[in-house]
Amino acid sequence: MDTVKLGIVGLGRLGRNHAANIHYHIPNAELTAICSVVEAELESVGAEMSPRYRYTDYREMFQNRELDGVVIATNSQSHCEMACAAAELGVKNVYIEKPLGMTLDEIEQIRAAVEKSGINVFQVGYNRRFDASYRAMKKKLEEGYIGKPVLIKMINRDPASMAEFIIKFSPTSGGLVFDMLTHDYDAARWFLGSDATTAYGIGGVYAYEGLAAVGDIDNCGILCKFDNGAMGWFETSRNCSYGYHVEAEIFGTEGCLRVCVTPTNDRVLYLDKKGIHQSTVSWFYEYWEPTFTAEMKEFADAIAEGRPSQAAGLMDGYQAVKWALAAKKAVDEETVVKI
Ligand code: NAI
Repeated sequence: MDTVKLGIVGLGRLGRNHAANIHYHIPNAELTAICSVVEAELESVGAEMSPRYRYTDYREMFQNRELDGVVIATNSQSHCEMACAAAELGVKNVYIEKPLGMTLDEIEQIRAAVEKSGINVFQVGYNRRFDASYRAMKKKLEEGYIGKPVLIKMINRDPASMAEFIIKFSPTSGGLVFDMLTHDYDAARWFLGSDATTAYGIGGVYAYEGLAAVGDIDNCGILCKFDNGAMGWFETSRNCSYGYHVEAEIFGTEGCLRVCVTPTNDRVLYLDKKGIHQSTVSWFYEYWEPTFTAEMKEFADAIAEGRPSQAAGLMDGYQAVKWALAAKKAVDEETVVKI
């Protein structure tokens, strides 16, 4: 296959970037179709990237047999409906944003529908698996560089500047654990090759009362035990006053691997009467940008080469949601939950 023809549903905050990556950065892929319920998004992406087809009904797009695959980048609450429709309507290859679903019932439905469908590549948007530093860290871990893993520690902080958006977004995102922490959990289980068996959590509303009104929280910490014996500590926040900040560390019996960079967005130092300053990464896309292109390239390459994708797949998406349900319960009830 020379060119992989892709259609995308959802052209919002992330979908538009996926569309642009397909159009501008993946030579063997073509942005053939776009779909959104927001006319202005269709107009804007349509005018800039000239896809052959525009849809407001995703089911119509899923029946376009010219397409080699579809990208689902809509609100998390629509993922189950859309993944099941893709399976039912004969879509050949699917990329779907995380989280795979919102409830146990939804992920079971998706699993059943996809397993009995003819879908070849089913990829879930856990983009961190494509980060160059994470990949180097995983390679060293697998070579035994740090001996036996003892503790994996993940920090994930969204910028306070996005608070207003997050409060609006919360009712359709599943809240802090579903929206943010499944990224850290997916990366942890990918590093360790093991799933968590217990979770204990604490958290609450520290900065944004608006989140309490929609049943969400803005900070939490979750402690886990993995099946291979390793411990995991996951902390996350929606009110990072200085920008977007992520860290990862794996401590082992023989050493430690860390991606704990100070979140500066360039190397400029600003020197003035008050001292020396640097500017920080402003939001997740800026930090992870290369991983979004790499994961979409992997989707196109797997389709073109007729092979399984190296990215997170159906069962990875399933396990992340199963963990999120347990972790959320652990935080909500401040209790230990068996997974
Ligand atoms: P958004 O609210 O900005 O965009 C949602 C889009 O879906 C809009 O274009 C809307 O028109 C479209 N849409 C919703 N229902 C539709 C329907 N029935 N038919 C057609 N279009 C429909 O949301 P955002 O922030 O772009 O998030 C989308 C998904 O991406 C979420 O599941 C979120 O969890 C995930 N995400 C993943 C990230 C990552 O790092 N991998 C980062 C940000 C979001």
